Amino acid sequence: MDHSRVPVLEALEEFRRRKDVVFGPPGHKQGRGVDPRVAEIVGLDVFRSDVLSLNGLDDRRQSQGVLSQAQELMADAVGAEQAFFSTCGSSLSIKTAMLAVAGPGEKLLLSRNAHKSVISGVVVNGVEPVWVHPKFDRDRHIAHPPEPDDVRRSLQEHPDAKGMLLITPTDWGTCGDIQGVARVCHEFDIPLIVDEAWGAHLPFHPGLPAWGMDADADLVVTSVHKMGGAIEQSSVFHLQYDRVSPEALKQREDLLGTTSASSLVYMTLDGWRRQMVEQGHDLLDAALRRAGRIRLAAGDLPGLRPMGQEVVEEGLAASFDPLKIVIDVRELGISGMQAAEWLRAERHVDLGGSDTCRISASITHADDDETEKTLLDALVALTEGAESIERRPPVRLPEPSALELEQAMLPREAFFAEVEHVPAERAAGRVAAEMISPYPPGVPAIAPGEVITDAVLDYLRSGVEHGVLIPDAADPSVRTLRVVARH
Ligand SMILES: Cc1ncc(COP(=O)(O)O)c(C=O)c1O
Repeated sequence: MDHSRVPVLEALEEFRRRKDVVFGPPGHKQGRGVDPRVAEIVGLDVFRSDVLSLNGLDDRRQSQGVLSQAQELMADAVGAEQAFFSTCGSSLSIKTAMLAVAGPGEKLLLSRNAHKSVISGVVVNGVEPVWVHPKFDRDRHIAHPPEPDDVRRSLQEHPDAKGMLLITPTDWGTCGDIQGVARVCHEFDIPLIVDEAWGAHLPFHPGLPAWGMDADADLVVTSVHKMGGAIEQSSVFHLQYDRVSPEALKQREDLLGTTSASSLVYMTLDGWRRQMVEQGHDLLDAALRRAGRIRLAAGDLPGLRPMGQEVVEEGLAASFDPLKIVIDVRELGISGMQAAEWLRAERHVDLGGSDTCRISASITHADDDETEKTLLDALVALTEGAESIERRPPVRLPEPSALELEQAMLPREAFFAEVEHVPAERAAGRVAAEMISPYPPGVPAIAPGEVITDAVLDYLRSGVEHGVLIPDAADPSVRTLRVVARH
């Protein structure tokens, strides 16, 4: 295929050349009506490029095939049989993918280190989750994706499951054995969905972990805005084999998606694909070398322990994305959240993630010598300034097994049940009717339907006292919990 073509971008150029006059949305009419004070800050070009896809970039019948050509090019670029763009982020694409594989009341295997969008999917779709527990890494206090044997055991117990959802890479860049999990799923003749929100760049360099389509997954969802170069909310479904029907996927996407898809998302996805096909290898080569230098230099700083290849070990991760610079800061006597707050306030450096133990910085094709220096200077300053950061009561991290809560009710039933609010001191033993997700990374510690325990409450309460944010809880201070009412 001719990857120098960019059908969506070309359609925008053509729209401008024709000087079409629009009497439909968007009401700003390609910037004519935009308040100049907005344009001054956002840029007029954002509005000039904001053109409807139907009866705008393409005609009413989509006879030019603008979007379908762009999607075919994307599929070809990454080695998928089919690709579909979505403008609602992977949060929605994941729900759609789940719905394309299992309907209400049907079983779906789900890795429990799932992002909250997966748990929301379980509530919205009404599927019966079969949780496959991740590999808890005791030293690092993180969870890595489950292994093929974990999936096999679950499938032996639940041979009626309709599919499996694996989340890899994790927010911290550790990856599962997709090929091994796919092999097990296919032995049971079920599809493997991979939430590869963090992996849009993986197809474009052999030095990066294998990506889902190359590793035999059936359906892969990526967020190109995370590690790639398209704008926020740009997500892509990639499909191969015949275990997931493209028709079902399209119709279920239609069930949830917007009818006003942003062409800006399509345009930037189109451009990113061309850039990666033409220059991706060199750009990612440079990014990998840069990340390697940063990891080495950070490792020489007192109190900083960057995660490296040593995490790839049996029982832990199968591989890891070297472009994620994940640094344990506990030896500085502060938490990752405090480090991230300090770096923003003192150095104007905004990190991609932080939790109790660590911080993370994503290095992409967009970084250059200047950003590399900025990050390293900021890390040096952090090690020098850490002494002055206020000591807060530590987060009482639970034993890994304490995070495997018993599921007493289906998440959907618990979420929509009659509820009451109980003080945390009296919440142990009650069934949660809400999701409680320390953010970031937004992996629920408690999901609806799970039985609350003192150990997990202690972790959450000490987290909040330390500064952990829990935005999805009815009471973000976790002084009270929303639980299923007792009759
Ligand atoms: C593993 C994982 N899946 C899905 C999502 C949701 O992606 P999006 O932000 O594109 O909606 C996230 C977001 O952080 C994520 O970390």
